[in-house]
Amino acid sequence: MIENNELWEQIDLCGEAPSDETLRQYYYMEKCRAVIEKEKAQLGRTLTASVVTFGCQMNARDSEKIIAILEKIGYEIVEGEDADFVIYNTCTVRENANLKVYGHLGALKRAKKKRPNMRVALCGCMMQEDTVVDKIKKSYRFVNLIFGTHNIFKFAELFYTSLGSDRMIIDIWKDTNQIVEDLPSERKYAFKAGVNVMFGCNNFCTYCIVPYVRGRERSRNPRDIIHEIEQLVADGVVEIMLLGQNVNSYGKNLEEPITFAQLLQEIEKIEGLKRIRFMTSHPKDLSDDLIQVMKHSKKICKHLHLPVQAGSSRLLKIMNRKYSKEDYLALVEKIKREIPDISLTTDIMVGFPGETEEDFLETMDVVEKVGYAAAYTFIYSKRTGTPAAVMEDQVPEDVVKERFQRLLDRVQAISGEIAKKDENTVQEVLVEGVDTQDSSLVTGRLSNNFLVHFKGEKEWIGSIVSVKLSQCKGFYYLGEMVSE
Ligand code: 5AD
Ligand code: SF4
Repeated sequence: MIENNELWEQIDLCGEAPSDETLRQYYYMEKCRAVIEKEKAQLGRTLTASVVTFGCQMNARDSEKIIAILEKIGYEIVEGEDADFVIYNTCTVRENANLKVYGHLGALKRAKKKRPNMRVALCGCMMQEDTVVDKIKKSYRFVNLIFGTHNIFKFAELFYTSLGSDRMIIDIWKDTNQIVEDLPSERKYAFKAGVNVMFGCNNFCTYCIVPYVRGRERSRNPRDIIHEIEQLVADGVVEIMLLGQNVNSYGKNLEEPITFAQLLQEIEKIEGLKRIRFMTSHPKDLSDDLIQVMKHSKKICKHLHLPVQAGSSRLLKIMNRKYSKEDYLALVEKIKREIPDISLTTDIMVGFPGETEEDFLETMDVVEKVGYAAAYTFIYSKRTGTPAAVMEDQVPEDVVKERFQRLLDRVQAISGEIAKKDENTVQEVLVEGVDTQDSSLVTGRLSNNFLVHFKGEKEWIGSIVSVKLSQCKGFYYLGEMVSE
């Protein structure tokens, strides 16, 4: 865990809560810790906590921050929901994500009967919606604490308030421009880490709820980002994933503006760092500079996630994506020309309001022309409050399902063909873990994001080795390590 012992030592628990936000949160962590230690002594056992994460990598990163605070407070972190304190970090990008959370809450209601002292907290994107919070207040009264996406840094303070109250504590902010640095942080993997470069989104694609629940774009100061990565590298991290809803517009709102391409060049200089990844890139903001930086970089992985969403220029306009099919294809051509071994992945949506068979065929055409190594395919889901939710011509479910299947079949076939091209080549692979199916194998990731399983030792986890991709299995390979 990365923590700031200097800050920790400045805390005076007998004094008032400090006004500096970082110090203030360390103060509340210490306050919570005193309560939890007392409870543990009374019970004569440890107390466990679990963070259940839904949704994207942003949420996964937020959960790491919550876990680090829970550890500081004195909880033992466990997996699953059989714990003294369960926190759901929720997602609301599609209706299904919401339904999953309600399903879990329903099960927890029963579990809580057996464990009456269990504490439950809810946070994340779903909590930014008033209707959700109303429903929880009504139907899930056992929940102790609700907070949103903008005040995660206040978790310790909010939890302390909740410890001293029988009521449900709710603190949702509509937006913020605050970024609090230097709080503790935990990592799921020793060798790779996600690093936020920016928060929020200004794009307002008409189907998407993210700008409403994650607020406006805010970039972190480049010095804070570099400092965090340097610390991570000193701690054994070799690969970082830079995270933002639209990394290509990084830096625009900073006092001293800097581009994402320039940030990457600075990060490249960090000694000991071996691999750099980033997501997500909005096609409309992807600059020539970025392509050149990627082309000449020794550390940036040969992988670009470039969500297209749809192939029809007509639909793209209604989606407010700000590029046409032709713009997108021209961008892809340019990227491929400059970086021939680039691997492209995407997000595609089927069934946006008014999508006709002709529109859908335009999407299929993009899929054929680009040749994605992988595509995340989604059925359009109506999100209340977004412009698309009230558009006429919602596409019937059976039509959407049939199109979705056609798309999926093609996407998978093309992905397999692309993977096949690299069969029998030797590639550098970062060993990520022991294979879950066969413990004599390890699993590693190629620069282009494909996975390979090969004979190896768990001691290799975190190192980069050369592997021959002996057999392509569709979306992964079986390989053999090549001695140097
Ligand atoms: N319905 C379906 N998919 C959506 N996405 C965003 N909003 C919706 C929605 N309302 C998809 C987009 C985005 C990905 C993260 O989720 O494809 O790129
Ligand atoms: Fe949503 Fe569009 Fe922002 Fe992506 S760029 S988070 S799809 S609004």
